[in-house]
Amino acid sequence: MNVKAKAWDAIGADFWHPSYYSGPTQAEVGQFLRGVDAGASLCILGASTISLIRACLERSSDVTVIDFSEGMLTALKSEIGESRCRTIRHDLLDPPPPELSGIFDAVFSDRLINRFDDREMPVACRNMFQLVGKAHLARHKVRLGFYERDIAILEAGRRNGTLANFYFPLTQEIDYSRATTELSELLAASGEVPQDKVRKFHKYRGLEKRPSLDEIVIYHERIRGCRLLATEVSEAVAQDLFFDFTSI
Ligand SMILES: C[S@@+](CC[C@H](N)C(=O)[O-])C[C@H]1O[C@@H](n2cnc3c(N)ncnc32)[C@H](O)[C@@H]1O
Repeated sequence: MNVKAKAWDAIGADFWHPSYYSGPTQAEVGQFLRGVDAGASLCILGASTISLIRACLERSSDVTVIDFSEGMLTALKSEIGESRCRTIRHDLLDPPPPELSGIFDAVFSDRLINRFDDREMPVACRNMFQLVGKAHLARHKVRLGFYERDIAILEAGRRNGTLANFYFPLTQEIDYSRATTELSELLAASGEVPQDKVRKFHKYRGLEKRPSLDEIVIYHERIRGCRLLATEVSEAVAQDLFFDFTSI
């Protein structure tokens, strides 16, 4: 079992609390769905991306959500209705099963790529791309560089002399599970979501890479049959970029 799933099992529906949920915004949902035909077969990677899932359900009755967290999938079903879309429990670090390979017209993810470490990221990109049918679309939104919270944690680490415990500059990786003291100082201001849940969430998220634009492009260039079609800056956050890939 991938221990990172425990993070999402812990947070569940609380991830969508207005004090915590960070989108995609309505404008970004518009960017995700631009050029996508009504009735297309759509796949959203990550049950947490509920605003996009809702919009996909308005556009098509053929919607699939893939996630490795049972807790997140259960939370999604109780939020949108048990049978509104197909839900599949699957870890994207594993290749998709044959029945899911190449079957979707469009595959979407919102900052899911940011949840992987340096070793996992190219593997996950490859596995996500396997879901896309010929001449169809994978559209991923990726945060480039650091999150605001990363910067605060890095500063705290510098102050405390603990930076080397949880920040790895060569690969641009941060391990929140090793920055518990620094995190505790920051999390007090996280709003209505219970602190123990937020702490558990960050503990199990573990090691994550902060990728550059070039790295995302290179990982996909190495995938046979994958071509970069376009990039577009998010209308909500200038640091977030949409990448469109097609399967040739
Ligand atoms: C879409 S991502 C990122 C969510 C949010 N936009 C953010 O910036 O934090 C989170 C979702 O992906 C799922 N997820 C994370 N890693 C996964 C993996 N290896 N395989 C399948 N699902 C995964 C989580 O369970 C969660 O529901």
